[in-house]
Amino acid sequence: MSDLRLATLGPLLIADAPAKAAATLALDAALPVDAAAVIDEPAGIPGRPQRPRLVAHTSLKPPPLNTPAGVAALVHAIAHIELNAIDLALDICWRFPGMPEAFYRDWLRIAQEEATHFTLLRDHLLTLGFDYGDFDAHNALWDMAERTKHDLLARIALVPRTLEARGLDASPGVRAKLVGAGDRQAGAILDVILRDEIGHVAAGNRWYRFLCEQRGLDPVATYADLARRHQAPRLRAPFNLEARRAAGFDEAELAALASQR
Ligand SMILES: [Fe+2]
Ligand SMILES: [Fe+2]
Repeated sequence: MSDLRLATLGPLLIADAPAKAAATLALDAALPVDAAAVIDEPAGIPGRPQRPRLVAHTSLKPPPLNTPAGVAALVHAIAHIELNAIDLALDICWRFPGMPEAFYRDWLRIAQEEATHFTLLRDHLLTLGFDYGDFDAHNALWDMAERTKHDLLARIALVPRTLEARGLDASPGVRAKLVGAGDRQAGAILDVILRDEIGHVAAGNRWYRFLCEQRGLDPVATYADLARRHQAPRLRAPFNLEARRAAGFDEAELAALASQR
């Protein structure tokens, strides 16, 4: 295959989770980019394994961390987020034409980092005596991809700049819980993930501003409008302001975040 955007459909359609991650990592980042191509959506996006069972977000309770299974359930929940993140990054590549080449290369790199995150967590889960698929999960992340599939600006506002940015906020607390429960290895994996995720949110901020400028839109007011229209989850303090600043949120955006509580 000679176009990077078309090539991203390969792993996106794979159902088996470890195979999806491996195929993502195997994508050739040096492939040429046909930015103008309008690619028809094939059936079966995203490919997903039979397990985990997907249940309503609200029916999933935070696992108790005083048992090995509870710790594994939390690691599984993060692995599930990373699997979704692979699909979300690949989906941005093929679906939205007309962006500069650097845009597609950014999202391919992000997809490959997400595949590394998934693999680290899944391998760790195996050492805990469990595998990906052993616990229930939810589909909230891909639901947001569906809601924003007609507009790249909405996709970037709601996925990297909202859901992934919320991951920056959640990271210190989740890390403390896992390390507190004795899982130092999971803590070390979360350190790698947080470092990379700052880069993903930074890419989101960069391309969000690019699109706002191109369309003559005010970034702060437009975000509030898109968040309302696409039913963004309410963001709750504590915010990881240090990570959010490192990811390129400016003071006006951080002030808007603080005021929406
Ligand atoms: Fe990730
Ligand atoms: Fe990410």
